[in-house]
Amino acid sequence: MTATVEFNPFDPATMQCPFPQYAQMRAHAPVAFVPQVGLWFVTRHDLVLQVLRDTTTFSSRFGGPSIASASGPADQRLKDVVAEGYPRVSTMLTEDPPEHTRFRGLVSKAFTPKAVAALEPFVRRIVTELLDAWGDRTEIEFVQEFAVPLPVKAIATMLGVPEDRYADVKRWSDAFIAGIGTQLDLGGRIAAERQVNEFQHYFADELDRRRAEPQGDLLSDLLAARLDEPGVDARPLDTAEILSILSQLMTAGNETTTKLLAEAMLLLWQHPQEWAALRADPGRADAVVEEALRLSTPTQGMFRKVTADTDLGGQQIPKGSMVVAVYAAANRDTEVFGPDAEAFCPGRQKATQHLAFGKGIHFCLGAPLSRLEARVALEEIARRVDGFDVVGADHLRYFPSFILRGLTALPLRLTGPPAPAGPRRPAEVT
Ligand code: HEM
Repeated sequence: MTATVEFNPFDPATMQCPFPQYAQMRAHAPVAFVPQVGLWFVTRHDLVLQVLRDTTTFSSRFGGPSIASASGPADQRLKDVVAEGYPRVSTMLTEDPPEHTRFRGLVSKAFTPKAVAALEPFVRRIVTELLDAWGDRTEIEFVQEFAVPLPVKAIATMLGVPEDRYADVKRWSDAFIAGIGTQLDLGGRIAAERQVNEFQHYFADELDRRRAEPQGDLLSDLLAARLDEPGVDARPLDTAEILSILSQLMTAGNETTTKLLAEAMLLLWQHPQEWAALRADPGRADAVVEEALRLSTPTQGMFRKVTADTDLGGQQIPKGSMVVAVYAAANRDTEVFGPDAEAFCPGRQKATQHLAFGKGIHFCLGAPLSRLEARVALEEIARRVDGFDVVGADHLRYFPSFILRGLTALPLRLTGPPAPAGPRRPAEVT
């Protein structure tokens, strides 16, 4: 019998805190059809892994109804706006092998862990500048004054966008995610598509400039990337494909890292002993980041489309169904993380088995970048901030999306102004 559950992911209270319901689903209906939204939710760690590994049955070609096939006068307005831009083509995140193999291979040639590691001095400089900008104020809004600008500036640096266009990068990446996991009316969709067009024209011009004169940056590397592997289509990336990839880098990178940073600070405030430990040893930042990733899971889940009737965890899922692999629920599975799975314990055993970055062929390409940003951020904050309180902790709100979960604002009261950057306290010098 099909397991169905009373779970409305769009319910405002659920979007604020879905975890008790995830726990119920994991225990009683780990593969469940949710009639309110017509989606199957998979919440147990082993079953989520099964979905991610079987890319033939659980396809990433989950793109919603195509704009091209929309009909009616209202939809025609949307089509007209989209026609003013480059074709919206499907690439990495929304592709399966063999196309995914080609895209991932080409992008990995440009977006390498080495290129990301080389960014550390830039990231540290961005972090230091953001902390300096707090001046001697003792009240700041952490999301707007730190967590939003850090990833935007980091990816803009990688993409060679000049500083006076950083605000555009943020505006464009907001437009890409406007409809993800939330409900957007036609006016909202049209406004978002106009921003996407603006983004496309900006970067198409930049790509033309690099074609004429390569600059040794990520855009030039994407243009130059070539694959020479048996059985893999060797075509280089064209403009529409690169634009789609850039949109994924910005979408996937900005909001998620913002949400991780804010949640890491909230967790540190809720666990003063962990904040004290980090202050005493900023080298613990890596472990804090990993545990914050597990508990917060900014990308709560991701869609897959079922390509053939299949059995998952004893449930019969028909071909054509849409499944949500709920990483946030899997990340609190007591079978993997033990009885204290809901607790914040940096450095816990099996910490790295979390699925906050997914797993398998679609494993987050930007994981090294977001880990770098979050580590450097926590190291520097711990060095420069004595202590902090969350102002109005009872009134914190999360964005209304069941896919991207994160705080709308995090007002902090610093117990002392940030110390200037400079020589570190003796205990921190290794
Ligand atoms: C805390 C920060 C981040 C989180 C939680 C996160 C989460 C994820 C997850 C869960 C997936 C897998 C999606 C799936 O299973 O289909 C993914 C894929 C991806 N992420 Fe991230 N991500 C983060 C940061 C970034 C950054 C900084 C970038 C790049 C600048 C990035 C780029 C990508 C790309 C391109 C993919 C698609 C990879 C593919 O399909 O092969 N992400 N991310």
